[in-house]
Amino acid sequence: NLPTTFDKPVLLGVIGGTGLYQLDSLTPVARLTVSTPWGHPSSPITISLTKSGFPIAFLARHGVHHQFNPSEVPSRANIAALKSIGVKAIIAFSAVGSLQEHIHPRDFVLPTQIIDRTKGIRPSTFFENGMVGHVGFGDPFDAKLAAVIAKAAPVLEKNGSQLHTKASTGGDLTLICMEGPAFSTRAESNMYRSFGGSVINMSAIPEAKLAKEAEICYQMICMSTDYDAWREGEEAVTVETVVSHLKANSANAHAFTEAILEHLEGEIVAGTVGRDLEGSMRFAVSTAP
Ligand code: ADE
Repeated sequence: NLPTTFDKPVLLGVIGGTGLYQLDSLTPVARLTVSTPWGHPSSPITISLTKSGFPIAFLARHGVHHQFNPSEVPSRANIAALKSIGVKAIIAFSAVGSLQEHIHPRDFVLPTQIIDRTKGIRPSTFFENGMVGHVGFGDPFDAKLAAVIAKAAPVLEKNGSQLHTKASTGGDLTLICMEGPAFSTRAESNMYRSFGGSVINMSAIPEAKLAKEAEICYQMICMSTDYDAWREGEEAVTVETVVSHLKANSANAHAFTEAILEHLEGEIVAGTVGRDLEGSMRFAVSTAP
């Protein structure tokens, strides 16, 4: 029975993926039911406070009962709802398959690039119906946000999981986003490896694009649950494999989030993170005023 309103802007949003349906370690103070021109988000938005009283908005991407498959997630409503309460930066968790030997199940990855392999069936822009806009998407993720998140890596290492970053890898980490809901064939999995893919999921698109259009800094945190289908002599991914690692990943995600917040809160309050996209869409709209 939490209050249904919260009267201060909430600058940071966390989107939970498969296995992460709430933020246990924080104190919830409000639960908002938001309506947007694009409908309702996939879950109510829970506002929680950190120890120092900094508010964070949490949204469950697949719904609190995991009722939306990746193609059904109302991403426009999700991003619009977070925007409407003041969110400037989003940390988005997602379970992923690993396309590389050295990215083990239970490792976390901060991707820097995306290859969109969705099928064009997901509404993926706010710019339509008479308003045309083209957002720059060359760098889909926010490097400053990623750098602050990376400071919390020791928490994962303590639990036996590695955090893979651009700095630790020496190059881009490419996330393949496929339509699903079926997993990839072995041939597809090998093709994605030949593309240079690091990890694969079904959730980055259109969320990352819409965040850009909404001028919200966005970083996905990928949590590896399986080796997809490419590995010789090993069974291809099934939900059982994924679920076996989800619990550990979820515990890690909670500890990781807590540690991230210790570094991130100050940066967001100071405006050193979460401000880079402000005003960026002004010149992206092609339609005459
Ligand atoms: N999510 C978790 N594992 C996955 C995989 N192998 N492919 C696509 N999405 C996933």
